[in-house]
Amino acid sequence: MKGLTISGARKGFGATQVLQGIDLEIAKGEFIVFVGPSGCGKSTLLRTLAGLETLDGGHIAIEGQDVTDLPPAERGIAMVFQSYALYPHMTVRQNMAFGMRMAKAGKAEIEARVARASAMLHLDALLDRLPKQLSGGQRQRVAIGRAITRDPKLFLFDEPLSNLDAALRVATRIEIARLKASMPGTTMVYVTHDQVEAMTLADRIVVLQAGRIEQVGTPLELYRNPANLFVAQFIGSPAMNIVAARGGPVGATHMGIRPEHLALAGDGEFAGTATLVEHLGEQTLAYVDIGAGETLIVKLDGDASVRVGDAVSLSPRERNRHWFDASGKAI
Ligand SMILES: Nc1ncnc2c1ncn2[C@@H]1O[C@H](COP(=O)(O)OP(=O)(O)O)[C@@H](O)[C@H]1O
Ligand SMILES: [Mg+2]
Repeated sequence: MKGLTISGARKGFGATQVLQGIDLEIAKGEFIVFVGPSGCGKSTLLRTLAGLETLDGGHIAIEGQDVTDLPPAERGIAMVFQSYALYPHMTVRQNMAFGMRMAKAGKAEIEARVARASAMLHLDALLDRLPKQLSGGQRQRVAIGRAITRDPKLFLFDEPLSNLDAALRVATRIEIARLKASMPGTTMVYVTHDQVEAMTLADRIVVLQAGRIEQVGTPLELYRNPANLFVAQFIGSPAMNIVAARGGPVGATHMGIRPEHLALAGDGEFAGTATLVEHLGEQTLAYVDIGAGETLIVKLDGDASVRVGDAVSLSPRERNRHWFDASGKAI
């Protein structure tokens, strides 16, 4: 069954075209992540789904119903933003119940839905607290809980974890992964610029650049078979190395190889000098100058003994090479 259909979506602000024609079909219950560089139109696209922005052209349908001209309150959506925007004078319980009270839901139903959301997000012990008595991560869980109580058809998240510190971000990400598993019928669209969030949460990732879709696929499809240079360098960290093609298929101008797919070799294909070595604990990154202005980053074991100035020889593993033509398309 269809969860969300976006067809020919276009949006500009003044002379700036922000969405240049977006087409996307999302199944009911799918968890879709939009990624892309800052300013590529992720928030704008999400806000048009919510009805907070109107499209200049195109259509949006939620579970088969065209909502293009419907106001936000009639779309069956709930949205969680980067800033949690809880009501400061209301308890967690009141914050979570507020939307349903406004919608004139019955008391018993409100209580049942708040209890369900609270259990899902482990908020039971916090229900009588005020927002100021919560950590940032807890506040964001309340904001998510408030969205759940509305029982949306479509759940929208715009970088919900980006205001949290690293440890809370991981903990809250795991809560969201659990939430996804416990709401299998709810379609979710999640915007982030964080690779790990995208890779771990998404059923499918949509890579956006300058208001266009570059590629749509499962996290591993994008990692293994990027359609072009942009996606190749956007997915994966550190980014895929790109060097001039030496051989390869007809038309290949660039070769890509991920840092984790290079290995030290006695008489390797690339010879160079280590110019920087980063010890990250479980792994070591070595930056190897191979001449002609090209540098390869190689991901080595944590106890690798490479030092700056060392002569280094590297070999790629054959099946992990990527080839691109002059237009940047994968061959
Ligand atoms: N209300 C607005 N008025 C004018 N320009 C806007 C408005 N909202 C967004 N933009 C512009 O649209 C582009 C995309 O913004 P946005 O969707 O927020 O990007 P992202 O979320 O991917 O970082 C940016 O260049 C931004 O400055
Ligand atoms: Mg944004």
